[in-house]
Amino acid sequence: MYKSIVKGIGHHVPPKIVTNKDLEKLMDTSDEWIQQRSGIQERRYVDEGVGNIEMSYAATQMALQRSNLKAQDIDLIILATLSPDYTFPGSACFLQEKLEIPNVPALDIRQQCTGFIYGVSIADQFIRTGMYKTVLVVGTEVHSTGLDFTTRGRDVAVLFGDGAACMILQQAPENFERGVLSTHLWADGRFAKDLWIQNPSSREHPRMKPEMFEDASWFPKMNGKKVFTMAVKKFPEAILTALKANNVTLNDIGLFIFHQANIRIVQAVCQGMGIPMEKTYNNIQKYGNTTAASIPLALSEAWEQGKIKENDLVCLSAFGSGFTWGSALIRW
Ligand code: UT7
Repeated sequence: MYKSIVKGIGHHVPPKIVTNKDLEKLMDTSDEWIQQRSGIQERRYVDEGVGNIEMSYAATQMALQRSNLKAQDIDLIILATLSPDYTFPGSACFLQEKLEIPNVPALDIRQQCTGFIYGVSIADQFIRTGMYKTVLVVGTEVHSTGLDFTTRGRDVAVLFGDGAACMILQQAPENFERGVLSTHLWADGRFAKDLWIQNPSSREHPRMKPEMFEDASWFPKMNGKKVFTMAVKKFPEAILTALKANNVTLNDIGLFIFHQANIRIVQAVCQGMGIPMEKTYNNIQKYGNTTAASIPLALSEAWEQGKIKENDLVCLSAFGSGFTWGSALIRW
């Protein structure tokens, strides 16, 4: 058995900034409501012609450069997204083509807000067994082309933004001190419809019907209160499981990175667990909820700003649609 160490991390966000004031022009909402309820001030939206493929390619270039690796060193791509460029094949195949590394296996995974942690966990298992040595894990989303920008969809539309980020994990000897110490994953499909997109659906005959435009069933729907309440319960469970598995305490953690869904969720969890907010890194105010991209996007910026040093213990945790949740503990 081997260990996975973090070789590099990178991110890319589209240049177009959309402020809360911009959204006020499209629907009955206000900058004050959005900031008070979620902490979000602005988010990024892609321009036409740009998708997950381009964003994740740019993020990968940054990670390769920071890790002194070449694309040819990658021997597995795992890409987490709920908004793939095409229904099939997965965006990982298109990213692989752009990276010019034919024959490397390319795997799309879903798991929404927990997608990146699931991806790190899968990468870690492959590296531990020795099957792959250098694995690229990407989280990427384009939400802006699928949101309801009328007042009907305001509870969801104001929250989400576009972006991509990634991590390159590489094999290290088992007794190596640093690396991915543990990952823990959960799901509870009883809540699948509390945050989902119903259509187009292969259960429909045919899967796409004109009335789907009218009934708005191709937009995301969310039971916001249920998601909020469950998130505040499940984040501590995920974090405490990670700590216990590694025999460490909250005080040993250098930095907590929470999935960026709502700053009030992070505040409530930190207050409940006794985690000082200074030990968290948050960028939801700038990017909104970028789902699978949110954790690596926060990690990449925190690292850039010198908030993560070699040997620091970093705790990642996520909760979201599925419901899915999970944690990863990394000695950087
Ligand atoms: O990645 C995981 C995915 N998502 C989440 O983690 C989100 C979890 N949930 C939340 O963050 C919160 O539930 C929201 C931010 C979505 C909503 O906050 P809330 O405090 O639960 O508000 P609410 O749903 O109770 O809505 C309060 C009011 C309602 O009006 P009435 O019924 O009181 O008259 C809504 O219609 O706010 C209204 N409202 C809005 N007003 C202005 C809902 N969306 C908006 C909006 N602008 N964008």
